[in-house]
Amino acid sequence: MNPSAPNRARAKAVLSLIGNTPMVSLRFDAEGATILAKCEFLNASGSVKDRFAKGVLLDAEQRGFLRPDSIILECSSGNTGIALSMVGAAMGYRVTIVMSSGASVERRKLIRQLGAELILFDSAGRYQTGIEISREMAAQEARYFLPRQFENPHNAADHEHTTGREILAQVNGPIDAFVHGFGTGGTLAGCGKAIKQRWPQARIHAMEPAEQALLAGECPCCHFIEGVADGFIPPLLREAPLDGPIAVTSADAMAMTRRLHREFGLCVGTSSGANVVAALRLAAELGPKSNVVTLLCDRAERYFSTPLFDLPGSERTAGIKPATP
Ligand SMILES: Cc1ncc(COP(=O)(O)O)c(C=O)c1O
Repeated sequence: MNPSAPNRARAKAVLSLIGNTPMVSLRFDAEGATILAKCEFLNASGSVKDRFAKGVLLDAEQRGFLRPDSIILECSSGNTGIALSMVGAAMGYRVTIVMSSGASVERRKLIRQLGAELILFDSAGRYQTGIEISREMAAQEARYFLPRQFENPHNAADHEHTTGREILAQVNGPIDAFVHGFGTGGTLAGCGKAIKQRWPQARIHAMEPAEQALLAGECPCCHFIEGVADGFIPPLLREAPLDGPIAVTSADAMAMTRRLHREFGLCVGTSSGANVVAALRLAAELGPKSNVVTLLCDRAERYFSTPLFDLPGSERTAGIKPATP
């Protein structure tokens, strides 16, 4: 048998490692607040985007959109690309990812390591550039299958029925608020809907980088919270039952992410820190007994080459005394 032929049975192993992530209580003594954080970084490829990759590819296969010679083609800022490459490899499909050359080298290496082809476009180009490149390629080659994460209703619906329902089952009692960043807006729309349906009083907030607070009417600018805010308001976000945005600076996001590393031992990426900053602001408003929920979106290992890791750590050669006591 061709080892790379589509094979649902072989894919089962990795697909079973996606979803049903644990939720942890993070007690911030100085702030006098506890945040409930769902550990999406524990998904198989290490991010919240594994759920979309699994949902969209299983659905496409079932509906006959994926054939043995299909090539999965998507524009991604990183995590979706890694997730599609992982699920595509396990299911036996070729994958091509279109990505900005500004994406971290760790993301690029992971995608290549999973056997996918990587097409980079100039980092000066906006995200829309990558989407146009993938559409043009699909118009010229019938084997390409486009998951279209930014407009595919599956994206939000999957989160409503998986992530959202898991949150409802994991939180003991009413949920007072849910806050999360947005790339496609699928997670926020899906989880927001599930939570609002069960707890209509719950407040649903979009975390956005202060340097690019589009929902707050600011212009696109440079920020360091990778994976969120691609410079436009995505269509799926319009479905989200939003109570408003919460702006977080890149500096605050990175400082909190380092606290999550050093005070909690949670090795997560910058957007997780940004989500926790926003969640703590909500908890301060809603009181110490409130149930404020957020997501820890991806793993720290994806950020070694980014400013998040520009911090002196303790490292020295054995046998050589440290310069300062
Ligand atoms: C690292 C990362 N990837 C992706 C997303 C966004 O997910 P979605 O595309 O569902 O909006 C987030 C949101 O915070 C994120 O932090």
